[in-house]
Order: sequence, then C-alpha cells, then structure tokens
Amino acid sequence: MEIILGIESSCDETGVAIVTSDRRVLAESLASQQADHAPFGGVIPELAARRHLEILPDMIANVSQQAGVKPADVTAIAATCGPGLIGGLLVGAMFGKGMAAALKKPFIAINHLEAHALSPRLIEPNLPFPYLLLLISGGHTQLLICEGVGRYRRLGTTLDDAAGECFDKCASVMGLGQPGGPVIEKAAMLANAHHDHGLPRPLWRQKNCDFSFSGLKTAVARQCQSPFDVNNLAWAVQRTIADSLADRTRQAMRVFMETHPDAARHMVVAGGVAANKTIAESLTAECAAHGFALHVPPAKLCTDNGVMIAWAGWERYAARMIDPLDVKVRPRWPLDPIAAKEGARA
Ligand code: KG4
Ligand code: ZN
Repeated sequence: MEIILGIESSCDETGVAIVTSDRRVLAESLASQQADHAPFGGVIPELAARRHLEILPDMIANVSQQAGVKPADVTAIAATCGPGLIGGLLVGAMFGKGMAAALKKPFIAINHLEAHALSPRLIEPNLPFPYLLLLISGGHTQLLICEGVGRYRRLGTTLDDAAGECFDKCASVMGLGQPGGPVIEKAAMLANAHHDHGLPRPLWRQKNCDFSFSGLKTAVARQCQSPFDVNNLAWAVQRTIADSLADRTRQAMRVFMETHPDAARHMVVAGGVAANKTIAESLTAECAAHGFALHVPPAKLCTDNGVMIAWAGWERYAARMIDPLDVKVRPRWPLDPIAAKEGARA
C-alpha cells in the first residue's frame, strides 16, 4: 500500500490530506479563508498567500498525527502547482518540494483541474476512462473528455465568467450574501412565480461546447435598478444557469458519442456549483435522455480540498509521472495543450 500526502493552496482554501492507494482517506483538513476576504468583496491574492503560509505547517503536522503516519512513511508528496493565484501556489508547492527534498521522496506537481477531473475515481473504482466531465466552480466552467491520467480533451470553456462566479456576482447585485450559489438556491425555493424574467441564454443550441455568463450578470444588474422580487429573480437566475449548462452539456454528449462511439457513457460533474439541486436535476434529465450514467461526487469532494490533490498524486505516481524539484508553478495551466495553442482560454 502506498501513502500520498496532498497539499492544495491555489485559491482561498488551504487543504491537506493523506490518502492511500487503496482509496482510504487517512486524514484530511480544510481551512477556508472566506471570512478574511469577505470585507474586500473578492479574494486578495497577497492575503491568501500569507494565510496559506501561516496555516500549512500546523495543518500538515496535525494531519500526519491524525493519520498515524510519520512524514518519513509517505510514498510521495503532491502539491497543486496551477492553475491559480501565484502566491498561494508558491507557498504550497514550496512546502511540498521542501518536504520531498528533506525526506528524499518523489514530488508530484498537480494540475488543480486534473485533480477535480480524477476525484470521482477515488470513490468509484469502476469509473472507466474515457468519461465526459463538466467542471463547474467559481473559477472554471469547462467540458472535457477525460481519456486517461494526463490525457484530456477540452470540448469547451467559458468565454467570460465561470458559472459559480455568475452566481456570486448576481447575488451581489441582488443584495444577497456570499457565496452566491447557496444563497440564490435558498431564495429560489421561496419564489412564488416561476418566470425566467427574459434573462439571456448566450450560445443556446450552438454547435460548440462553450459557455458565456457575463451577459446574465449584466441583465440581472439592470433588473435590480427597478423594484424586484428577490426570490423570483433568484429562481430565474438559477433556472437560466441550469438551462445553459444542460444545453452545452447536451452538445458535449453528442461530441463524446461521435468521437467515442464504442465507449460506455459516463458523465461526471465536479466543482462547487455541482452542489446545486436544480442544476443536478437538469443534468440528470439530460443524462437519462442520452443514456449516460451520471456521477456527482459528494459536495465535500466536489469543492476545493486536499483529498483530491492527494488522490491525483496517487494516480500520477501509479502512472510513473513524477516531477523534478525545479518544476515551476503555473498560474495558467490548461489541461488540454492543443486547445490552449488554438488561442482558446485556459
Ligand atoms: O469549487 P469551489 O468550491 O471553488 C472554486 O471556485 O474552485 O466553487 C465555489 C463556487 C462559488 O462560486 C459558489 O457560489 C458555488 O461554487 N456554489 C454553488 C452552490 N454551492 C457553491 N453554486 C450554486 N449552487 C450551490 N448550491
Ligand atoms: Zn477548484
């Protein structure tokens, strides 16, 4: 049995976990900095990096103790090296590299998006490659085909805002709290009129797998200039985002079936927005219509965490993908280098 220590520090969550090759999470710890950044209305990169630096040493010590694993007993150390905020990435990567150097253990540089992509395989040993992945978080909205460890084909990405970012910005102009997704979901449950308020659905039915959400935020801001019912507007925002995600996913399912006609049809949803019930229902219907099995990892594994970094570390270690200690952190690091070269966004 191999033991992997994983470190996540790409944004405003510090995560550390120890995971085994036989899919056991021996210990994990997650600290959110949300309260630190809240007064500023967004994540302050410099502040985020300092918080990671303050908290990581104790966190690693505590997780090792809880797991009953001495640092010298780990097989390898994995840390997020991108994409994300450079200060936080440097802190996590330097910790990981420092430990790897001191303990003479292999270091594995993890792409945060790959960790999201591989996370369902931690709990579903029988989830085979290839599978379709919808990654919906505060920072990313992408459709990918996961063909194997280190092999991803990006079908589409957002041209502007991420889905979670759209929830957050809409909540903010509507005078609701943060994070926007859960508060909009809660308000929508109290709606007494189910009407889409004429909100825009960019790229609707278009033959690509891209997304666009910035127009929705602008339209909501405009509606907020006149008197409005917050719950009914929340319902409309949630409905519009759910419909857009389902429409773009439908297109991606077609591409998957065309490019992998013989593959079993599996669809995975990851990222914080996957916690939304209305979105899950829309995707469930879409999957049922096209014969895809839907996999939504538990919310705890869907949002940023150290467990998924440790697990991706194991998957890469098992594939002999070990990195030199001078591997660089990469604030931008697309999973599909071909899509990136074509000039599309990361
Ligand atoms: O994956 P995540 O925890 O962090 C990253 O962005 O990487 O995702 C956070 C995002 C936020 O934008 C938040 O508003 C959204 O996920 N979110 C939700 C829900 N819970 C979290 N969006 C819609 N409905 C939810 N229930
Ligand atoms: Zn993430």
